[in-house]
Amino acid sequence: MKTTINQVKDYVGKDVTIGAWLANKRSSGKIAFLQLRDGTGFIQGVVVKAEVAEETFATAKRLTQESSVFVTGTIVEDTRSPFGFEMQVKEITLIHESVDFPITPKEHGTEFLMDHRHLWLRSKRQHAVMQIRNEIIRATYQFFNDEGFLKIDPPILTGAAAEGTTELFHTQYFDEEAYLSQSGQLYMEAAAMAFGKVFSFGPTFRAEKSKTRRHLIEFWMIEPEMAFVDHEESLHVQENYVSYLAQSVLSNCKLALNTLGRDLTKLENIKAPFPRITYDEAIELLKEKGFTDIEWGEDFGAPHETAIAETYDKPVFITHYPKDIKAFYMKPDPARPEVVLCADLIAPEGYGEIIGGSQRIDDLALLTERYQEHQLSGDAYNWYLQLRQYGSVPHSGFGLGLERTVAWFSGVEHVRETIPFPRLLNRLYP
Ligand code: 4AD
Ligand code: MG
Repeated sequence: MKTTINQVKDYVGKDVTIGAWLANKRSSGKIAFLQLRDGTGFIQGVVVKAEVAEETFATAKRLTQESSVFVTGTIVEDTRSPFGFEMQVKEITLIHESVDFPITPKEHGTEFLMDHRHLWLRSKRQHAVMQIRNEIIRATYQFFNDEGFLKIDPPILTGAAAEGTTELFHTQYFDEEAYLSQSGQLYMEAAAMAFGKVFSFGPTFRAEKSKTRRHLIEFWMIEPEMAFVDHEESLHVQENYVSYLAQSVLSNCKLALNTLGRDLTKLENIKAPFPRITYDEAIELLKEKGFTDIEWGEDFGAPHETAIAETYDKPVFITHYPKDIKAFYMKPDPARPEVVLCADLIAPEGYGEIIGGSQRIDDLALLTERYQEHQLSGDAYNWYLQLRQYGSVPHSGFGLGLERTVAWFSGVEHVRETIPFPRLLNRLYP
């Protein structure tokens, strides 16, 4: 019977065949321990010289790292293995012999690993991170479907900037100029007016000259948009969503979290409600913490965010930023028009801003004014402004950065390990 490593629990005491690669090996004159990997998991194959054909043992001894094989043997329970099972090997068929696999079990430098990302992905650690990424994606669809959101796919080639015009990737679109999407939000607002509650999930592109542990040039964003929902109600959706993601990863990725040595108490803490402070309070807090020269009206950098986050054991919302440091579409607070109804969700442990969100301006005149102030002239936004002409309603939305969330839940330092093929400043290969 042919099966995969994640299914062997159904075959205890039985013989099965698994297609796998050799991740690692130990052997002596009498016994060989094969660490086998098939993409669904890792299992140890034990080959005892006295119990197999001579050539099977010879093959086991000769196997090189990343050679591909079909192995046949009996599945037994093994409490010492993190996976709980091992295989008593009876037969090995070599499919392809791998020669000089560059990533050995020893330590390698980051640049070397990044140059070999196509092979680095085969490691146990990368497997664990990708499983957590996959769980967050799965749980995202589950959460929003359960909450009655419709999944909408905004375009990637666009004629208008959503966030800021400086970070756009330009491309030729026949005779016109086009940009790669930096956010699907404007289209999601149109979708919310059509379908009420919607969410998107797709790649976004930002030509940011930032070389930090939190910045990718290409990253994936989840962008819910909700009609008839105000800023406050949107914060509830955000904290419930993030809590749901954390609890899903805790329940369904135990082995992966273990492999990564993640401190589970950090994830157990991620439970709604999350603390909230206003931008004004954040400025005061920063001053108390020694950032004496920060002034009202300045945006926060990574050290500021980290200092604020350290004050709490949960993610924290910073709300009501000055309008001048936020996007043109954010709705001013009616009680205080110099600030907007927005929030950034800051993760603990230095992972930074996970979510940016706001209530949107629903008044046509005000939106037009703000958009002109931002010098976003031209016809590209006409359709967006028109949304306020036909039954405009209060609405809010937010964007969660997938890779930053994966880094945070996994406990990996840098977002480059959270996406299969990271696009970074000066890196387009492999
Ligand atoms: O705060 P941002 O720029 O918000 C928007 O794009 C809104 N239009 C979203 C919306 O309201 N629909 O980006 C949202 C999130 C950030 O909080 C961060 O998690 C992630 O996207 N992000 C990045 N992740 C990795 N690399 C980058 N360069 C990122 N820029 C933003
Ligand atoms: Mg932001």
